[in-house]
Order: sequence, then C-alpha cells, then structure tokens
Amino acid sequence: MSEEKAQGAEQKPTGEKASDIKPEVTAKNPSEKKTAADVKTARPSPKQPVADNEQGNLWMSRRNFFSRAGWIAFFSFLASFLIGSLRFMFPRVLFEPSPVFKAGYPGDYPLGSVSTKWVKSQRVWIVRNEEGIYALFTQCTHLGCTPRWLDAENKFKCPCHGSGFTKEGVNFEGPAPRPLERVKITLAEDGQLLIDKSIKFLEEKGEWGKPGAILPV
Ligand code: FES
Repeated sequence: MSEEKAQGAEQKPTGEKASDIKPEVTAKNPSEKKTAADVKTARPSPKQPVADNEQGNLWMSRRNFFSRAGWIAFFSFLASFLIGSLRFMFPRVLFEPSPVFKAGYPGDYPLGSVSTKWVKSQRVWIVRNEEGIYALFTQCTHLGCTPRWLDAENKFKCPCHGSGFTKEGVNFEGPAPRPLERVKITLAEDGQLLIDKSIKFLEEKGEWGKPGAILPV
C-alpha cells in the first residue's frame, strides 16, 4: 500500500483534478475542431457554383436533345405507319386496257386483204378471204417476237429467227412450232367488227372451226 500511494503521488505532482485537464489540440489530430479562420478558408470559391451551373446546363441541353430526338423518331414512325395504313386501305390498281375493241365495218376489209391498221394499238391483223374475216394475234409462236406482213411475198415473216407464216397463219418455215393464234371476232349490235383478244383459238387444238374463230361474210 505504501508503494501505490507513492505511484499516485508521482502521476499528479501538481495536484490538478482530472476534469481540469483539457485535451491538447494538435494539427496532426484529424478530429480536431476547426477554428473560424479554418472555416473561412474552407468555403468554396465563388467560381465553383458557376462551373456547376455550366455542367448542369450542359446536362440539361443534352437531355433536351435526346428528348427531342426521341419525339422526332416517334413521330417519324407514326407518320410512316399512317402512310402504310393508307396505302393498305387504298391499294394501287393497275387499269389494263380492255381486250375488246371495235374494228370498223366488214366493208372496210376487201377480199384478199391483210390489214395492219390495228397492229400497233391492238396487236391484231385482220384478214379477209373467201370464207370470211378472221383476226390473227401478232405474236410469233417461237419466242414471241412480232412478225411483219410482207405483201409482196404474201406471208408473215418473223425478224427474230426467220419463221414464216401463210396468210391464214400457218407456220411453214423457221423454228416456229405451231400456227399463229386467232382471236375472237363477232359482229357488234351496230354492225361493226367486235374483236375480243381474251379469247383465242388454236389451230393445233382444232379450234379454228369454232364459232368466233372466223366471221362468215
Ligand atoms: Fe419468231 Fe423466233 S421469235 S422465229
């Protein structure tokens, strides 16, 4: 006991109480209390908020840009969708010319004649012989070229590979494998020749003798 008393006497040589001892504040202590001067110097510089504002404005402008781009893309998609729907509701229709036409009166075609009047507009020759009037379609039965009527040679001649056809349309030279096709010919109510190119008569099928293949006159 005498030794402990001696140690206690060594720790408090000045006789101060423990509560009177204040913690020593040093620069090395991180939890030290800041003085007013330190707080003053720690304030942000006046330039710092301006930079923040600039960054904020930049971010907002980017955000606006992407927002606008998004709306533009949306409305573009909407417009293309509406246009597609309208096209679907109103599809394009190709109006092909009628295959039926009037070719004038029988008296316009003298006996033994081959008329080339309708070749360009209707792709048809109109021929008259002793039996009547018939219409030949101007398409070569080889590969589809348009033959020419050679009056001097009394035949149709294909310029592509040399096929030849008689006035009746029968193939007799060249590579054409079959006669020309005839199309329907009748008389309209007004007495004109009525040609219907949608109905054809093929000689190899025995159709040239059918009504409509030739118009007796
Ligand atoms: Fe007429 Fe070949 S297309 S002969």
